[in-house]
Amino acid sequence: MLGDHLRRDAERIGGGRKRAEINRLDIDGHAGEAVHDYPLLVGRVCVFPIFKNLWWRFKPGHHCMTRRKHMKIGIIGAGFVGRSVAQKAVQAGHEVMLSNSRGPQSLFSMKSALGCAVGTVDEAIAFADVIVLAVPLTAYGALPPEGFRGKVVIDAINYYHERDGHIAALDQGDTTTSEMIAAHLPGARIVKAFNAIRMVDLDVAGRPEGAEDRLALPLAGDDADAKAVVAGLYHQFGFDSFDAGPLHEGWRFERDRPAYCNLKPRQALADTLAATTR
Ligand SMILES: NC(=O)c1ccc[n+]([C@@H]2O[C@H](COP(=O)([O-])OP(=O)(O)OC[C@H]3O[C@@H](n4cnc5c(N)ncnc54)[C@H](OP(=O)(O)O)[C@@H]3O)[C@@H](O)[C@H]2O)c1
Repeated sequence: MLGDHLRRDAERIGGGRKRAEINRLDIDGHAGEAVHDYPLLVGRVCVFPIFKNLWWRFKPGHHCMTRRKHMKIGIIGAGFVGRSVAQKAVQAGHEVMLSNSRGPQSLFSMKSALGCAVGTVDEAIAFADVIVLAVPLTAYGALPPEGFRGKVVIDAINYYHERDGHIAALDQGDTTTSEMIAAHLPGARIVKAFNAIRMVDLDVAGRPEGAEDRLALPLAGDDADAKAVVAGLYHQFGFDSFDAGPLHEGWRFERDRPAYCNLKPRQALADTLAATTR
């Protein structure tokens, strides 16, 4: 049944999963995967597990390869979301390029204010390991799909019919904004994230790991390694993360759902997402 995996996850956390394990799941991106500790055997029996383990760790895209302290983050949209994410990412030690529809000359003051580079949309896409979409929903159709292939793409976009006009498939719950964007950007490793927090909260609500009042943010996506990268950013910005599942589960924290811009600790977020109905 839809949401069973979320209920199981919520119960598992509530059942006292060790904090170290939760952190590993969040930050290293092994959510939903068994992490095996292979016994140290001699001879033929041990060869396969050891090589399997090594291959897994160094294959392209694994978190050992993607979870770098320093990433190049290209942001499309330089409004509230673009600027806040840029500021946090620069503070966390990443290299950032901001872009908007009007061109870099309109972002001149951002360079010194935020300590980031500015560029055209095409330049930000080409520059980035990770691309953040921080534009109104109506703008995604103008994005050039070619440059996104293979890249981690954080979709922070929300649907506001008052701003974006009515879209029947969304009004009827037939799809999600992230799935619409994924259809436009084939090959992009899309993670729905940063959409369910107001930027005034992103600026001030982060807490160090282990703080009693640390809050959690949801994410959803089909690529485990891309989700690990985003969970790592949440962590660096002072938040736990909760993996709500594949991209089509992103409706659980879209606008007007109980978890939308209603920040909670991780367990409460897990419970809320599991109990959310469409
Ligand atoms: N505000 C929040 O707290 C918040 C939180 C979570 C998610 N969101 C969602 O995040 C998205 C951005 O929100 P926002 O508050 O940052 O909006 P905003 O302040 O209105 O900024 C929108 C930005 O998008 C740019 N843009 C518009 N069309 C573009 C295009 N075709 N190509 C490149 N850039 C384009 C605009 O640049 P120009 O001015 O040059 O057109 C502007 O810099 C929205 O979908 C919103 O629902 C907002």
